[in-house]
Amino acid sequence: PEITYVAVDGTACSVEVPLGTSVMRGAVFNDIDGIVAQCGGNAQCATCHVYVDETSLDALEQAQPEEEHMLGFTAADRLPNSRLSCQLKVTGALDGLIVHLPERQY
Ligand code: FES
Repeated sequence: PEITYVAVDGTACSVEVPLGTSVMRGAVFNDIDGIVAQCGGNAQCATCHVYVDETSLDALEQAQPEEEHMLGFTAADRLPNSRLSCQLKVTGALDGLIVHLPERQY
């Protein structure tokens, strides 16, 4: 599935991310700046925060309690479309997903 990461300055980068990985890994594997992922994907650091584009919100499952909890610790403001990208598992339903990177992760 193709995922598009949009930086704070508006630069968009679309990459093919393998099924079964995560939106966080898609960024890390492709050297996309703006996602730190300090805890390695365990919903324990909130440095993989992204804002999901309004057009993509319907493709996502609800956040689980651990993610919901850590979303309280994001460095940039938490908004209604805030998610932890390590908890967004890549499935076919995510093809075309657009996420916006926050201005800071810590
Ligand atoms: Fe740490 Fe996502 S990588 S919460």
